[in-house]
Amino acid sequence: MGFTPAQLALLSNVVQRRAGIALASAKPAFVTGKLAPVAARFGFRNVSALLDELADEPEELAAAVTEAMTTNETSFFRDRACFNHFQNEILPALIEARASARRLRIWCAAASTGQEPYSLAMILDEEKLLEQGWKIDLFATDLSESAVDRIREGVYTQHEIERGLTAARLSRYFTRDGTNWRIAERLRCALRVRRFNLLDHYGWLGQLDAIFCRNVFLYFDHQSKLEVLMRLERALAPDGWLVLGASESAGSCTRLVSGAVRGVYVRGAPQRPMRMAG
Ligand SMILES: C[S@@+](CC[C@H](N)C(=O)[O-])C[C@H]1O[C@@H](n2cnc3c(N)ncnc32)[C@H](O)[C@@H]1O
Repeated sequence: MGFTPAQLALLSNVVQRRAGIALASAKPAFVTGKLAPVAARFGFRNVSALLDELADEPEELAAAVTEAMTTNETSFFRDRACFNHFQNEILPALIEARASARRLRIWCAAASTGQEPYSLAMILDEEKLLEQGWKIDLFATDLSESAVDRIREGVYTQHEIERGLTAARLSRYFTRDGTNWRIAERLRCALRVRRFNLLDHYGWLGQLDAIFCRNVFLYFDHQSKLEVLMRLERALAPDGWLVLGASESAGSCTRLVSGAVRGVYVRGAPQRPMRMAG
């Protein structure tokens, strides 16, 4: 199906304003694939009719269209190096720094269907912090209501399970649920799940020790990325960590300092003092 330039410009404008997502070069086939289910759900005869209605930006339709245009690709322990770095470097550094407060606050900010925050929950469980009396706030948020519902449910297909989980973690943290797999209740209860748009206000989150915001800036327009990066930086504790996707960078717009692994940033000065010569 073809669309007029005006229809595509309208779609691009709505999605960019509401989610920061840049759709400039979206092909008609891509738009149709994403929006055909929304058109059917709202009773339009086709996607073109839906786009005509979008001109008045009715709230429910505009939200559904924006959500449908997101990409929710994810998997457990995606880019394993990043999770190894979290378990072997970031977490030990935070445990040392927070030894007296015994409290950690971690936010997975574009959590999609939950594989990423549950990977973090598994690592935190393996380090037995709760048993040692730590209080851990692990927030999992995403723009997409349907993705957030799946995090709350904590049920994954065989195919999803096969992407990134070791056999040991599968048997430790999942039980069979028909043909699917259900996450252990203690991990499900460990997550504080909420629908949240990265363009909205972060006040309710308080100060965070680590923020995972991975593989979402790839889709953002430049200005939205800058604004969100600055807000993420402000939400971090002075010695907090920001973890982006392996192919994403914070650029030079913030005071975030690049860490040892691609996509990992520290707020302010590097963690370890540099050894002086002589
Ligand atoms: C490709 S997934 C990445 C998931 C996970 N972080 C990972 O790396 O595997 C991108 C996610 O960002 C979410 N997203 C897109 N725009 C957003 C926004 N403005 N606020 C919050 N989440 C957003 C999408 O709904 C989608 O679930």
